[in-house]
Amino acid sequence: MLQSRAMPNSLQLFPRTARVNAHNHLEIGGRDVVALAREFGTPLYIFDEAHLVTRAHEIRDAFRARDPNARILYATKAYFSPYLARLYKDAGLGLDVTSEGELEIARRVDFPRDQIYLHGNNKTPAEIRAALALGVQHIIVDNLDEIELLARIAAEMRATPRVLLRLAPNIDPHTHRYLATGVAESKFGLSISTGDALQAARRVAAHAPRLQLVGLHVHIGSQIFDLAPYRDAIRAVAEFAGHVRETIGVELRELDLGGGWGVAYTEEQATLNVQDIVNEIYTALQELQITNYELLFEPGRALIAQAAVALYTVGAVKEISGVRTYVSVDGGMGDNVRPALYGARYTARIANKMNEPPAYTVAIAGRYCEQGDILIKGVELPRVAPGDLLIIPVAGAYHIPMASNYNLIPRPAVIAVREGNARVIRRRETVEDMLECESVE
Ligand SMILES: Cc1ncc(COP(=O)(O)O)c(C=O)c1O
Repeated sequence: MLQSRAMPNSLQLFPRTARVNAHNHLEIGGRDVVALAREFGTPLYIFDEAHLVTRAHEIRDAFRARDPNARILYATKAYFSPYLARLYKDAGLGLDVTSEGELEIARRVDFPRDQIYLHGNNKTPAEIRAALALGVQHIIVDNLDEIELLARIAAEMRATPRVLLRLAPNIDPHTHRYLATGVAESKFGLSISTGDALQAARRVAAHAPRLQLVGLHVHIGSQIFDLAPYRDAIRAVAEFAGHVRETIGVELRELDLGGGWGVAYTEEQATLNVQDIVNEIYTALQELQITNYELLFEPGRALIAQAAVALYTVGAVKEISGVRTYVSVDGGMGDNVRPALYGARYTARIANKMNEPPAYTVAIAGRYCEQGDILIKGVELPRVAPGDLLIIPVAGAYHIPMASNYNLIPRPAVIAVREGNARVIRRRETVEDMLECESVE
């Protein structure tokens, strides 16, 4: 089945500085990717730094133009590293973090503590302690059990964290079921309809002044292209805030509306326009007469996905007569699990044959020992030979942070390119790195 059509001259899914040079090669950040493959090896993840920075500014400025107090938190789960932490700190964004590892990166770049929000549906005592020790002020509480744990650790550490409650408002965001996080059966958040959310508000308020109940959070899912569910979420959150005001007497001022803004991975899709998101959200707030709130947003993918490409070397090309042709690459589900996990769709090009017209439809097979390790079920490409370089755009989000060492294969290198310079932001893993944790006894 034809899954995506790579239009020979379209670079719409590629990072902003991408172009085709006189050698018919793809160039990003002023660097020929064929030369980058030679220098750094493959699989290789290439980030376009100019794209990362301009996209962060674009999103930040679109919201600030409408609401100077709006805050954009980068959802670090999309991909985090010291390089990105510095870049987003310089861009004036905050962070939504979920683990000690992510907190440690924030610490290393001295990220402003009041701009860090701790998430997680099963935070460990160690994570809560690490966050409070670092000086993180905002904790997003996911469940009833977490409240007592947080109160106990906060008392131990003489901290007074500001608490937002993560709500499960029972809204269907029309996305893959693994990406729908605000529906009734979601493992995330406190259900409004069962009464858990109100009970949580009561319990947190009872811990005042140790715990300060300041706001609400909702993240209805990822890869959302229809803005109507955001409107429903705003209504649900505002109604619940009103309920808390009336029954508990606490005024909740911080509303965190999560992320999930849809991003195009193939030419048939269109990335949500930031200005449309701003308009939809603030019009909904106006219509619902919701004022006096401090608004927060947590985009991950929308900030970073289109800033990177994944570059692979083609190995075996297997034609199964009358069935399909498999083009095998030197990566796969170990560096990009999304096709196997969600049925995510991608497109691809041959980086050293950019202007050659498509010749046939092939499947892109990964190198891992799973039949499900197919990066693309069907894509039109020029005739491919071993040694060619296959490039997959929209590789910046949820690839490297979800990468594994399946089959004991080291994870790829990550580089950033800008104005003709390339630098390693994550070196290629080695077999030695992978075996470091193993005991030989
Ligand atoms: C709580 C929360 N906020 C924000 C995000 C970011 O989502 P996206 O990358 O789709 O914008 C996620 C993603 O899982 C999330 O769980």
